[in-house]
Amino acid sequence: MKINLIEKNIKKIKSDIEIIITSSIEKLEDKNILETIGFDAKDESVALLPESKKIYVGCENNDYDSVAIASATAIKKFNTTKFKSAKIRLEKLTLNAVVEGTLLGSYKFDKYKSKKEKSKKQELNICVEKITSKLQKSFDESIIISTAVNKTRDMVNTTPEDFYPGVMANVAKDIADESNLHCKIRGEEYLEKNDMNAMFNVGRASVHESKLIHLSYKPKNAKKKVVLIGKGLTYDSGGLSLKPADFMVTMKLDKSGGCAVLGIMSAIAKLNLPIEIHGIVGAVENMVGGDAYKPDDVLTAKNGKTIEVRNTDAEGRLVLADCLCYAQDEIKNIDYIFDYATLTGACVVGVGQYTTGIMGNNSNLKREIVSNALEVGEYATSLPFNRFLRKTIKSEVADICNIANTRYGGAITAGLFLENFIEEENKDKWVHFDIAGPAYVEKEWGFNPYGASGAGVRMTLEFLKNIQK
Ligand code: BES
Ligand code: ZN
Ligand code: ZN
Repeated sequence: MKINLIEKNIKKIKSDIEIIITSSIEKLEDKNILETIGFDAKDESVALLPESKKIYVGCENNDYDSVAIASATAIKKFNTTKFKSAKIRLEKLTLNAVVEGTLLGSYKFDKYKSKKEKSKKQELNICVEKITSKLQKSFDESIIISTAVNKTRDMVNTTPEDFYPGVMANVAKDIADESNLHCKIRGEEYLEKNDMNAMFNVGRASVHESKLIHLSYKPKNAKKKVVLIGKGLTYDSGGLSLKPADFMVTMKLDKSGGCAVLGIMSAIAKLNLPIEIHGIVGAVENMVGGDAYKPDDVLTAKNGKTIEVRNTDAEGRLVLADCLCYAQDEIKNIDYIFDYATLTGACVVGVGQYTTGIMGNNSNLKREIVSNALEVGEYATSLPFNRFLRKTIKSEVADICNIANTRYGGAITAGLFLENFIEEENKDKWVHFDIAGPAYVEKEWGFNPYGASGAGVRMTLEFLKNIQK
């Protein structure tokens, strides 16, 4: 879908069809016919009137979420037609919501379909009274951001057969080449030599070598230093604590945190942000085999802490533990350190499949992130740590255990496990994003079709755009 921003009266623009996003049918030309067909202008309602060449979409509020969802609904309807061009007038609507709703809502993944749908080369003309520099900037940024989200979706949707740690590392190299980022890739020899045994052991039974990916962007005028770390489990079978068959399906999604980090890194140079940003991904496959790590093993992480493994399916936190240590050993004077992971089923049970769980020790920072997320139509909520849950990951044989001694609060106890790998000076700078729910969509919602959603990308880019202010 091509989108053009045009400074012209909508009546003077030649397009095959017009899209009208509205909260009421009262003043509309087609009021009578809309009433007859029962179009009530409520959220997610849509009507295509081929004779008057209009697509009407209901939208009760003017916030980002409602407008983006309405735009996605309109574009999906437009996609079902043979019309080539559509136009929409931007009055009160927010431009970024229209652009992002359109580009995210029209995303399709057909890599594995033998018959590909022919690209219809459709375009959307957005008409505005005046293209101010602010409007143009917002438009350009929305295109960059949506491209990053769709790139993330493509990676996550790719099968584990086609996307294993080595492939993920190559994709990272390509992103670095495209955006002039610095790129370091390390293999298992490096992990073993540098005491990254928690991460190394998770990948031991896989035929694919684990990869530690480190991308960095260092503009000359950098005002802040941000580190983003992603769980890149290209497949999570559960390991010897094998997942039941039904739970294993979709576990290609377990690389979503790492892919989000790569997606964000693909956008930052283009957004020209005056921030030094590091993207670190632990790309690993969790498999079974004679060489697999086992429940009862004790692993020593890079910071010297010993971990009793009681469940090999709680592998993400082991990979992240070493990646967090690596990041803090390599990078000093960090302003923000964020990690992204499809870490726990408990988070999905707790807050639902649409929402990211935000954890950490800095309430203001968590609040800021939640607010940035909601601002761009990503749902997020803060989950609270407390001293009693902190005790549930104590171990009798090692320093800590990779699972808690209680079924309750599983998202939080996983977050508290990670806290053990955050240095004192970074305690207030660290935030953990559990994206297990929203990362993968099994029943389409809003502007998210079936499959990967690209969760975490937009909320983080919004945060990064705002810290320079
Ligand atoms: N990758 C899973 C978490 C997950 C579950 C992500 C469902 C998306 C959807 C993670 O590695 C895992 O298996 N976690 C276990 C932890 C448990 C063993 C403490 C879980 O959530 O069951
Ligand atoms: Zn697991
Ligand atoms: Zn996992």
